[in-house]
Amino acid sequence: MLVLLRHYSRHESDVQTANGASIKAEENDLCNWDGLGFSLTPTDYMYLMKCSKGESAFSQGHLTPYGNIELSPSSGVLNYGQGLLEGLKASRGDDNRIRLFRPEQNALRMQMGAKRMCMPSPTTEQFVGSIKQTALANKRWIPPPGKGSLYIRPLLLGTGPILGVAPSPEYTFLAYASPVGNYFKGPLNFAVEDNVYRAIPGGTGGIKSITNYSPNYKAISRAKAKGFTDVLFLDGATGKNIEEGTACNIFVVKGNTISTPPTKGTILPGITRKSIIEIASWLGYQIEERAIPLEELINADEAFCTGTAITVKPVGSVTYQGQRVEYKTAEGTVSEKLYRTLTGIQTGRIEDNMGWIVEIN
Ligand code: COI
Repeated sequence: MLVLLRHYSRHESDVQTANGASIKAEENDLCNWDGLGFSLTPTDYMYLMKCSKGESAFSQGHLTPYGNIELSPSSGVLNYGQGLLEGLKASRGDDNRIRLFRPEQNALRMQMGAKRMCMPSPTTEQFVGSIKQTALANKRWIPPPGKGSLYIRPLLLGTGPILGVAPSPEYTFLAYASPVGNYFKGPLNFAVEDNVYRAIPGGTGGIKSITNYSPNYKAISRAKAKGFTDVLFLDGATGKNIEEGTACNIFVVKGNTISTPPTKGTILPGITRKSIIEIASWLGYQIEERAIPLEELINADEAFCTGTAITVKPVGSVTYQGQRVEYKTAEGTVSEKLYRTLTGIQTGRIEDNMGWIVEIN
């Protein structure tokens, strides 16, 4: 197993291994930084940590070269989908410092999800430590300022063998990373989905279960084939209220009021969502977390979505049963102001008075 001793400089990365080997690469040769989208670029290292049979806590983890992992064919994750994902970004500011945004919030959300899915979870310290190490070990993959960020994807998986429907006897936490750019290129053009529901009360819509995503592929593919960027889900209980997109929370703007559906079990408690609520209230907007009938979205001045991957994106249009409404997305919108403030804090252009930033240089 490799033990890594870290030393980096800005334009050249130098990862030293325990046996004295070193890996060097010029940052500029790595990647077409201007062409980054939200797709996987394999990086150098990932972080692995295990909770073995009979143990209730994770033991110390380690960095290892990025690559395939071995899984039992009867592992809980492969057979019954016992798994959680997270997502967070390391960004390089104009000052060349590297910042993580509220990583302890991802740790807490993973712990909450783990309780629901009957899994042990890493402590906040273990989680944040693993993210710092993963970001630093892949430092050469963190895009230059303004070109994107390093997306870190932590996973918590039931990797022990199990045949009956029951929690796995063993768990693996891992975190890998990929440089990314925009998740969506322009504003979001939503097709409202009134046939497939993302979540139901009592289900897993409020946690980042890995099983929350692929059941939506059919609806997404159908919408994309018709030229939409994403689908907007309605609530499974009444089919009347807006819930969220496939990878983002939604906000509706009317006058000085910004509303978003409440996190009562069917909405993902997004960390960007939570941060935007705080930023918007400092900026003087009135915030309402409540059920939002589709008609309110249709009559809104503006709408936007939030998520770690998408940050803050304006909604350009919403189409429901063949009727399309369009929203302003140009300069001067509320979403633009919120986007600038959030990304300003994330990249160090705006002072972080909230203790949201973890610097990892
Ligand atoms: C994120 O925004 O980090 C997410 O987890 C959404 C993802 C499924 C792309």
